Amino acid sequence: MTTEIPQNPPENKEPNTIPVEGDILLRRIVPEDSEAIFALIDRNRDHLSQFVDETAKKYPTLESVRKRNAIQSPDERRFGIWDENKFVGFVKVTKRGEDGWEVGYWLGGEHTGKGYMTKAVSALTRYAADHLGARRVFAKVVQGNKASIRVLERAGYRRKGINPEDPGEFIFESIPESREIALT
Ligand SMILES: CC(C)(COP(=O)(O)OP(=O)(O)OC[C@H]1O[C@@H](n2cnc3c(N)ncnc32)[C@H](O)[C@@H]1OP(=O)(O)O)[C@@H](O)C(=O)NCCC(=O)NCCS
Repeated sequence: MTTEIPQNPPENKEPNTIPVEGDILLRRIVPEDSEAIFALIDRNRDHLSQFVDETAKKYPTLESVRKRNAIQSPDERRFGIWDENKFVGFVKVTKRGEDGWEVGYWLGGEHTGKGYMTKAVSALTRYAADHLGARRVFAKVVQGNKASIRVLERAGYRRKGINPEDPGEFIFESIPESREIALT
């Protein structure tokens, strides 16, 4: 008699790409993406640094991006946002506590105003609920960062209050309904 090994249902497998819309997709970052990522950061240092985002500071050289992309942590998922194979921005979720995940993101300045980030944050929030067990996804956003706040609101996040660790920031939160719960 053979014992059947229980398989995860397909929806629980963690895909490396997340389709967003049309030719837009999120793809897990691999070391080979480093040149495209560095080129976009390097063209956008002022844009990225407007609201204490550390991206420009953390990645002064191509080598620094390569080093970061060689590291995979079980507590984070980092995705590039690609449109027709063009790298337009970045989005990630990082595990915080038992079932909370924090979202972070940026776009190249030339790719803003087109709706990429609202769609990317919406898709990643859904992914976190479906594949990472997130019951709560949240973002910390500088109070004056209106564009980022609009992204979160359009993606269905609600303002929870001030970040207790930094009174200059709001906390926005989404409680995505897991498909597992929805089906039971
Ligand atoms: C925050 C940031 C990602 C927002 O970018 P954005 O382009 O405003 O966001 P989206 O990609 O969702 O685009 C939405 C805009 O595109 C417009 N748009 C155009 N076509 C659209 C479409 N098909 N669907 C949705 N929106 C569309 C919307 O009207 C909206 O413009 P508005 O803000 O003037 O109303 C960007 O400003 C950025 O990278 N900032 C620097 C880094 C940063 O601050 N990161 C966040 C830290 S918390």
